[in-house]
This record gives sequence, structure tokens and C-alpha cells, in this order.
Amino acid sequence: MSIIYQENTKTFHLYNQEISYIMTVLPNGHMGQLYFGKRVHHRADYSYLYETNSRPMASYVFEDDHSLSLEHIKQEYGVYGTTDYRRPAIEILQQNGSRLCDFRYRSHEIFFGKPGLSGLPATYVEEEREAETLRLTLEDPLTGVGLELLYTIFAEGGILARSAKVNNGGKETLHLTTAMSLCMDLPDCDYEWLQLSGAWARERHVKVRKLEQGIQAVDSRRGNSSHEHNPFIVLKRPGADEFQGEVIGFSLIYSGNFLAQAEVDTHDTTRVLLGIHPMGFDWQLETGESFQTPEAVMVYSEQGLNGMSQTFHRLYQKRLARGYWRDRVRPILNNNWEATYFDFTEDRLVEIAKKAKECGVELFVLDDGWFGRRSNDHTGLGDWVANPERLSCGITGLAERIEALGMKFGLWFEPEMVNKDSDLYRKHPDWILAAPGRSSSHGRNQYVLDFSREEVVGCIYEMMAKILSEAKVSYIKWDMNRSITECYSQALPPQRQGEVFHRYILGVYALYERLTAQFPQVLFESCASGGGRFDPGLLYYAPQGWASDDSDAIERLKIQYGTSYCYPISSIGSHVSVIPNHQVFRNTPLHTRANVAYFGTFGYELDLNRLTVEEQRMVREQIDFMKTYRHLLQFGTFYRLVSPFDGNITCWMTVSEDQTEAIVGWYRTLSHVNMPYTRVRLHGLNPDFYYEEQRTGISWFGDELMHIGLITTDGMAGQVEENTGEYGDFDSRLYVLKAVRCPEEV
Ligand code: GLA
Repeated sequence: MSIIYQENTKTFHLYNQEISYIMTVLPNGHMGQLYFGKRVHHRADYSYLYETNSRPMASYVFEDDHSLSLEHIKQEYGVYGTTDYRRPAIEILQQNGSRLCDFRYRSHEIFFGKPGLSGLPATYVEEEREAETLRLTLEDPLTGVGLELLYTIFAEGGILARSAKVNNGGKETLHLTTAMSLCMDLPDCDYEWLQLSGAWARERHVKVRKLEQGIQAVDSRRGNSSHEHNPFIVLKRPGADEFQGEVIGFSLIYSGNFLAQAEVDTHDTTRVLLGIHPMGFDWQLETGESFQTPEAVMVYSEQGLNGMSQTFHRLYQKRLARGYWRDRVRPILNNNWEATYFDFTEDRLVEIAKKAKECGVELFVLDDGWFGRRSNDHTGLGDWVANPERLSCGITGLAERIEALGMKFGLWFEPEMVNKDSDLYRKHPDWILAAPGRSSSHGRNQYVLDFSREEVVGCIYEMMAKILSEAKVSYIKWDMNRSITECYSQALPPQRQGEVFHRYILGVYALYERLTAQFPQVLFESCASGGGRFDPGLLYYAPQGWASDDSDAIERLKIQYGTSYCYPISSIGSHVSVIPNHQVFRNTPLHTRANVAYFGTFGYELDLNRLTVEEQRMVREQIDFMKTYRHLLQFGTFYRLVSPFDGNITCWMTVSEDQTEAIVGWYRTLSHVNMPYTRVRLHGLNPDFYYEEQRTGISWFGDELMHIGLITTDGMAGQVEENTGEYGDFDSRLYVLKAVRCPEEV
């Protein structure tokens, strides 16, 4: 890995074994983008990549220079208003009403390591030599505004992390109305665009379309990263697939309003923008103040989408997630939500926990309904004190009873919300986001606390910290069950209202930071009505997230498959729930429910007492299986093999680092009669290892499994006994492969 600055040509080359990123200072002092992609040789002069062409109807920056028309030049951080008509990376409203700016290169710094971003989640290094950083400093001479563009290249993987910081070094107060984390001009538009989109209970479905002239974008204006779109896109070459070909993934480490967009101009160049959504954003910058954008991460891979995902998985698992749980397998939990909803007593909870313990569950989680006067969703949010009518000895007492069973205890919170029927609201009616003179919309009967205010965050912190200090709580599920409306803070002046969405998220991060720092061994799981805030920002604090409120195994195939494009398997909250399923009323076999949930954090979202004796036996086996293989399942190298978005079969697999173990998950949505012969070609195995399938004892060489394929035809070798015909639709199999000595070689 290296960052080289060539003084004579004013060119920067950032490279490692896999990628090169090249940029230069343009004749007008702006930064120009020359190349991003597979590693190329270093040379002193890449000026041939600075392409300009005298074009009809162009406008030029300099009177005597008929080549410098910014709209025809690939840039690092484009501005609007002179000769570039594309959407800009930055816009600043000045006191004279002008929004023009002219950022010119001033200086740069190159150093090992990677600085943190104050108040924001970001990737990090543990050793300085893991990464090298370039800080470019630019300035707009008229306003005196400084711009720091940060580029970090990691030694391993095709990863480049970027962010920007705006410093008001001038004399007047300014308004920052756009500040993207990343602006990236690519020389052509021969790409397909992939996004993860959906809705509540249908999150992160994969959608692909060709990039076309014009703007294509996904975004959120809801205050959270949203169920609808994820702050992640991929540009892939048309020939690229899961296993080969060029792809670039773009991911934003942020949990609030975002914009991810690609603009293809008339000359077929593509500008990618990623950052805080400019709509409604307006940050007042006083003299001497700075604004730091969130971090954006680009991953280049020529090993197709799986190659890109594996790089994201490693980075986000090891250098974004932090703390005690980062490298640890996740406890198998039983959550009471779908078992009881609001209808529980302390004894009922203990009864559920007892059976869970008997089956091998390690953590019992009490979900919504334990606090204030919460007996339904109209009341109680904001009063984070146990309801004595339900829990006579409070959380402390219940936690003790659970611990006495030999289990850990976990608890649900929804810290950012309040019901009007709560002591907190009665005491502080001005603590919600609400616009003066306007009515306030609610969602699920609740209102959003103004987390842009320190005193609000402080008060919630006190209530949560008290419980965590007094009771033995090992896990927190942090929920957020509505989007934000009337985003107005009663504590901020009119000219600062455009800051509230972002300040809100900074407040969320601040609370997470305080709690995770003070209670480092507590495992946090993020949640927002399922997967409404499943983003890299929260992974920094909570190493796992509840992926969706849809707990049906067949629905989960698509949700978890889509989620895996960016997020590691160890982060995907996945549970076995009852049938008929509570969201889609489907009956799926118990083994399929587990076979899907294994590829995630794993747990149960039901009352195990209600299962038959035979089902309880199966649950015990499932838990034993997960305990044996969870390291491989959660931290192995994950490959998507067959997509649920393409047909009736889904297949994925995970391989251990030393390639001696692998688990293949195979799922068939509907059963058909007299079905064709089928094989799935595996990936990531050692071609020379001889693998034995654990249930059948049948063995193959790695190269056979990868090139000939694993035969999955019904009734053929490798099929496990579970599939005895008892279940037709929604069947699934796991193939556990272990390297053994080949008998022919003994
Ligand atoms: C959200 C979560 C659920 C559950 C409920 C409780 O919908 O996604 O898992 O915690 O809230 O109200």
C-alpha cells in the first residue's frame, strides 16, 4: 500500500495490491479524478488521462482557455454554478446570496493510520500500518472556506474510505446546504446499478437496472436510513456476476437521511454522489466552525459481487464493529415478542425462559411492554422504569430469576420515542420534534424525542444507565419504530432548523457511544421496526441488527440474501418463529426455519413450551448444531450461490478460513413433481481437499464440488434424511462438509 505524490505533475496515486486511485490538480486548482479501478503500474505522469475536448456550446472557466470546461472534466468534489451543470458535491449559501464556490488545492498531508471522525461512526485501524491516509486541503479564496478531503487506502482489500470536512475560515456566517461524503466521476456509464430496496417486512430486496443517461438515485428523507432503501449501491459491469467481473460497491456509514445517486451525462461519464441528503439540509457555519461529513466506503472487486461482499464483510466485521462482541460468536437467544406481545406476567416470562434453558438457549430477551404503564402501544414510551404491576421486583428481580436459571438476560428499549401518555411527555411536552403552530403527526401512537438536544439525550441516558447499573442486563435491543415528521427543534433558532435531522442522528450516536463505553460487555442489537435502520453507522455501536419484522423463513431468504451484499452474516439478526407465521401466515417446516436462521445471529421468537415434544427435541438438536458451527456460520467466508430473486431455489454457503470446513444451505420454495436433475457448483473450497458430508458420510474432492457440483437432485447422494417427503413445499437442506483424509491416498 502506498500513496505517492508526484510534484511535477501534481498527481496523487493511492494504491495497494488490488486497486489504484489516481487524481490530479487541474489547471484551475480544482481536483480532477483520473482513475479508480484495478491496480496499475505507478508512473510519474498520467496526464494523458486528463481528457478535455473543445465541445460545441461549452462554457469555459478561463477567457483564454478553450479546454477548461468543468462539465467535461472528471472531478473529485464538483461544484455547481460555473461550468459544471451536474449535481454538486458541495454547496454553500453566502451572505450576499451567492452559492458559487471555487475550491483550489492548497496543500496535502500523507500519513499512516486513519483518523477518527468526531461524533461519527467510521472504519478504523488497530495498527498504523493497516492503512495510509491522504488529507487534501483546498480553499475557496473569496470566502476563506477550507475543505479537507480525506482518503484512506487500506493495505488489504480494494477499499477506499472517504469523507470531507468544511472549515469556515472566513469572516462571515455561512450556510452549508450540500456536503456529500463522496463524489466520484467515472469515465463511462457501461454499468448496471444494484440497490437494496423494499418496505417494512420486505427489506433489502435486490433490484438491478442498467445505468442510463440522467439521474438514478435511492435515498431516505425519513430520518432513518429506512426500510425503503439502504445507503448502499453497486455499479457492476454488465458481464459481472456473483463470481467474476468488475464491481464497485458504495456504502455510507450513516443512519439518517441519505442520498446515493449516479448521474450519467451527455458524454456518458458517470458521477456518483453519496452522503447526507441535501434536501432540507442547511447547516449554519459560524466563523471558525467546521462540519464533518459521514464516511463513505468504496470497494472495488474484480471477483464479482461475492468478492465485493466478502471485502465489505471483513471490513465491517473487523474494522467498523468494535468492542467485546466484535469477534465473539453471538449468544443463542429467545425473545418473547411473538410469543406474548404485550400480554405477559413475570411468571409467564420465566416459564418461557425455563423451557428455553432446557433446550440450550443462552439468553432470554424481554421485549416491549415492561416499563411505565405500557400495556399496549398507546402508552408508556419514555418512562424507562419497570412496571411494578408486571415485574414486582423490577428488572433487577427478573434478571436475577433468569440468571438463576443459568441464562443471560436481555432487554428491549426504544430510547428515541415517547407516548403522549407518559410521565416524560407530561413533564417535558416541548421535548418532541414538533413545528410551532402545526399539528404533530404520530406513528404507532408515538412521537419522536428531540435527540438534537443534549438534555433530552442526557435524561434518557440516565434512565437507561440506572437499569444497566442495577440489573444484570447482558443485551439490549434498541428499537426505533417510526419515521420522523415535523422535524423541528424547539431549542434551535429558525436559521438552524435545517440541522435538526443530522443533529438528531448525532444525538443517537452520542447515546450509543456513552452506553457502549460505560457497559462494554453488553451486546447491543439495533432495530427499527425490523430492518428500518440496518446500516453501517449503527454497526459501529451494535454489532448486530434485527434484519426484519418478517420472521417467515421463505421471506427471510430474500431479505437475508439481499442484506449479505454489504453486511456480514454475524450482523444479521435471524430467529425461528411459530407457524402459521405471524406476518405471512405461512406454514414452513421447523428444519427450514432453522436452516435459514443459522445464517445469522440465530435465536427463537416463540414460546418453546407450545411446541410438541418431538419439535422440542429438534430444537435441542438445532441449538447443539448452532453451538458447534456458529463460528463458521457467522464468521466464515460467505458465498451467494443461487439467488431467490431468480427462481425457486436459493443456495448459499460459508467456508472456514483454512478451508477445512464448509456449510451449504439449500432451500426450495415450492415442490414440483418429477423434478429435473440439479447440481450446485460450490466455491471457496480447497480443490485438493477431500470433503466428507457429515450426515451421509459421502465424500468428494474440493475440485469435484466446485467444478462438477454438489448433486442436489431429490433422492440423490448428499441429501439428508430430514427430507423424507414429510414436507413438500419450503424444504431445505444443510450440507456440512469437513476435510478428511482421502481413503484412496491412505
Ligand atoms: C418493533 C420490533 C419488534 C418488536 C416490536 C415491539 O416492531 O421490530 O421486533 O420489538 O417493535 O413493539
